[in-house]
Amino acid sequence: MFFPTYRARRIRGKEVFRRMVRETSLSVNDLVYPMFATYGRCVRKEVSSMPGIYQQSVDNIVAEAREVRDLGIPAVLLFGIPESKDAVGSPAFREDGVVQEAVRELKKEFPDLAVITDVCMCEYTDHGHCGVIKDGDVDNDATLDLLCREALSHVRAGADMVAPSDMMDGRVRAIRETLDTNGFTHVPIMSYAVKYASGFYGPFREAAESAPQFGDRRSYQMDPANRLEAIREAAMDVEEGADIIMVKPGLPYLDIVREVRDEFNLPVAVYNVSGEYSMVKAAARNGWIDEERVVLETMTAFKRAGADLIITYHAKDAAKILNKK
Ligand code: PBG
Repeated sequence: MFFPTYRARRIRGKEVFRRMVRETSLSVNDLVYPMFATYGRCVRKEVSSMPGIYQQSVDNIVAEAREVRDLGIPAVLLFGIPESKDAVGSPAFREDGVVQEAVRELKKEFPDLAVITDVCMCEYTDHGHCGVIKDGDVDNDATLDLLCREALSHVRAGADMVAPSDMMDGRVRAIRETLDTNGFTHVPIMSYAVKYASGFYGPFREAAESAPQFGDRRSYQMDPANRLEAIREAAMDVEEGADIIMVKPGLPYLDIVREVRDEFNLPVAVYNVSGEYSMVKAAARNGWIDEERVVLETMTAFKRAGADLIITYHAKDAAKILNKK
């Protein structure tokens, strides 16, 4: 295609043409909204590093979920902040735990809103790691049992889907077997298949009160330098029975989203994580960027990279923009 026979600008000349040849589309159906459930009543505490995102007691979770549902967003992803923590994270699998309560209330109010739960130990352990500690590191196999108990208790409370984010080896199979033997063969698993040890989780650890009290997560989350390992991680989870595979974080890992999309024939989710959100909010508050525009561009980039689902703190904002178009 050579100039002047071909002029690339011709087809860009009118908005109606641009609409006709647009290759990627974004819809509210693509969005998942993360929420932080905490104990108590009438609690609504903004996360200082994440403007617009709150730690909320179940009553307020329900109130915000109504707004989420009314915007047409199909799903929420729930995290829990328990009243107390211990070495093995036992508040994670209490029948009256905060996530379990939130799930029950949400499903009662909004049967059509998909309630997905994050399955991990870090919000529930006093040391803040994603499993039990042995000899200064997270013990993989001992953690599996706890994750299974947590996932099962979420599903018993009514969760529509579970999303293990711990990065233990073998957890998708273990959870699948646990759900199956307890009569929950129909409940899907969205696995955080490719999760990097990332500095972009900083604000989340304030939101979920889950910062590790010693060391870091590099012995279980992936090295940001690795690409082939991402394929191995995803392949493992696919074989173990994952229904949706996730890549996380989002923007710095769009190449990985594309690789995973091309390699596997399963829905792919991307997690536009806390640090990515905070950067946009901070720049917008300073008047340095046009927030609406940047949010839509970011969401479109995820779709263009091959993501089917986008887990994002911008979900409500993005839905409002999409609904008015
Ligand atoms: C729990 C978990 C984390 C996030 C989701 N699930 C934090 C971490 O691994 O440290 C991060 C989400 C975000 O930054 O928005 N393991």
